[in-house]
Amino acid sequence: MNLTTKLGNLSLKTPIICASGTFGYGEEIKELVDFKNIGAITTKTITLQPREGNPAPRIYETDYGVINSIGLENPGLDGFLEEKLPKLTELPVKFIVSVGGFSQEDYEEIVGRLETKNEIEALEVNLSCPNIKMKKMFSQNKELTYNLVKSLRSLTKKTLIIKLTPEVSDIVEIAKAAEDAGADALSAVNTFFAIAIDTETKKPYLGSIYGGYSGRAIKPLALYKTWQVAKNVKVPVIGGGGIENTNDTLEFILAGATAVSLGTVNLVYPNKATDIVKGIKDYLTQTKIDDINKLKGALIV
Ligand SMILES: Cc1cc2nc3c(=O)[nH]c(=O)nc-3n(C[C@H](O)[C@H](O)[C@H](O)COP(=O)(O)O)c2cc1C
Repeated sequence: MNLTTKLGNLSLKTPIICASGTFGYGEEIKELVDFKNIGAITTKTITLQPREGNPAPRIYETDYGVINSIGLENPGLDGFLEEKLPKLTELPVKFIVSVGGFSQEDYEEIVGRLETKNEIEALEVNLSCPNIKMKKMFSQNKELTYNLVKSLRSLTKKTLIIKLTPEVSDIVEIAKAAEDAGADALSAVNTFFAIAIDTETKKPYLGSIYGGYSGRAIKPLALYKTWQVAKNVKVPVIGGGGIENTNDTLEFILAGATAVSLGTVNLVYPNKATDIVKGIKDYLTQTKIDDINKLKGALIV
């Protein structure tokens, strides 16, 4: 039975990827996880300079997910290269480095410097960062997306994955801009904007007022966006948002995803990939399918 898939030149032994920001840099969580079921882990997004992130509280739990406003807390590019990368390369799992920035130049500098690191096979570009000049996320504007991806493509031969925000009226035009500019794969989707209000104090619960919603509640929304993207591009798509179990995973693959990402579920069950891989194998056996890739986009409409 074949569970391997490919994103650009990155081959994955299973289609399960642990999503950025929910798995640290692998090292923190390694005792709790059986890496043999994980296709790849994606690091917390790295920015050029270290960031302390947003004021607390930074996570608000709802009945069906979490709203986070972590604010890209990370050790910066130098801190990542010195402290995190050496440990990451020792883990028995593939990894994808997530990069962020607040101007095109930020992204270019990070990608340019990571290009010399042969131990890094793949980059995921988090386009949900605000462009300071435009006061919009890069992935909310197709020209910004195209220009940035085109430039990064010229700077790297590594597998280049572009992560999209769902906070747009037409995600397909952004996905196509990223594909046309040379992305090897797309990742759909990042969190949805959300707010929670304390009625006693009449204040927002989160220190930065609003945040990004993830987890169970967003699954049907994220599945729809993944389906829209996957049927309109040729490059592989990582689908995710609210995935918690085998059935969710299969839904994303049927909708056209080549691989899936597990995010919020890791905060409670970091070894969820093990259950899901077992479930996928059972499903393939029962349905007499010998290759997970045969399910990709097999939705009947
Ligand atoms: C606490 C937290 C931190 C996150 N940090 C990042 C990040 O640094 N970069 C990024 O691209 N996505 C980040 N995300 C978004 C996830 O990678 C994922 O795209 C999103 O949560 C949807 O998937 P889920 O519903 O399975 O969590 C974060 C999500 C959470 C919950």
